[in-house]
Formats: sequence, C-alpha cells, structure tokens
Amino acid sequence: MPERPSALTTRVPAQHRLRDAPALLHVEGVVEHGDERGRLLGFPTANVAVPEHGLRDGVWAGTVQVDPAAGGPVHVAAVSVGHRPTYYGKDGQRLLEAHLLDFEGDLYERTVLVRLHERLRPQRRYAGSSELVEQLRLDVAATRAWALRAGLPG
Ligand SMILES: Cc1cc2nc3c(=O)[nH]c(=O)nc-3n(C[C@H](O)[C@H](O)[C@H](O)COP(=O)(O)O)c2cc1C
Repeated sequence: MPERPSALTTRVPAQHRLRDAPALLHVEGVVEHGDERGRLLGFPTANVAVPEHGLRDGVWAGTVQVDPAAGGPVHVAAVSVGHRPTYYGKDGQRLLEAHLLDFEGDLYERTVLVRLHERLRPQRRYAGSSELVEQLRLDVAATRAWALRAGLPG
C-alpha cells in the first residue's frame, strides 16, 4: 500500500494549479528506485527515466503530480536532469530526480507527471556532498521563490 501523504505535504488547491504558470516541458513516468543517497543527504528524490531527446539537462523549479490520470495532488519540486557529475563524472546514467518540497512519503512504483517550469542552473560537479547540499538548499529556496511568483503554495 502506498503511504498516505503526511500533514506536511504541499497540496496545491485545484484553483491554483498551474493557472498562471505555463509549462515548458513535462515527463510522465513510474518512480524508480535510486541508490538512496538523496535520503542520506537530506534531499530524497523521486527518480524517473528520461527520454533521450527533448529534455534539457539542468536544475529546474517545477511540479510533480502523483497519479495524474486520477487527478492526484500536485507538489512543488526542485528537479535535477543530468548525469550527477559530482558522483559519476560524465559517464553517469542520465536521470530525472525530483525533490518534492515539504513531502514525506514513498512514491516508488507510482506514476508521476513532472513539469519543468523554470531552469535555475546547469548541472555542476561539486567538490563533495557538503558542497552539493549547500547548493541544494539554494535550489530549494529558488524553487519556493518561483512557486510564490507562480501563485503556488511552495
Ligand atoms: C535539485 C537538485 C539539484 C541537483 N544538482 C546536482 C548537481 O548540480 N550536480 C550533481 O552532481 N548532482 C546534482 N543532483 C543530484 C544529486 O547528486 C542526487 O540527487 C543525489 O546524489 C542522490 O541520488 P539518488 O537519488 O540516486 O540517491 C541534484 C539533485 C537535486 C534534487
């Protein structure tokens, strides 16, 4: 059974859903198991396979809708698309990883619709995990700022 979202879940009221925030790109897929490092870093991610073309690498402010066919909840998310050069160099597997803001729960095997709205920066190689975590905090802050501008509770 999927866990129910906690009280901390960012739920976007229907009337706010993407009203003034036209999507640039979107990907629908089933959430896969990652290597769990994100959880250790304090930034757990939902990982989704990426199409080979059409999706630009980088870090994005966006949203993740869980079970879109059923009109599931929309969560604000900081989304990474790329090879995770900090850990894998240029040869790493290309992945989409979404960190849902204020969300606790297990999305494995659930279908999600990820929308990429604002590109925040390119993927970079950091000296180590603590440097990456510092940057992830900034990415989350930038994502919240985007959500505010877009009229979404983030
Ligand atoms: C918002 C966000 C930005 C990220 N930016 C980078 C980056 O610039 N460079 C990088 O190597 N990895 C980046 N990552 C990926 C992390 O390295 C990755 O989430 C972490 O290693 C956990 O991987 P796992 O989910 O496979 O365990 C980013 C992840 C997120 C959620």
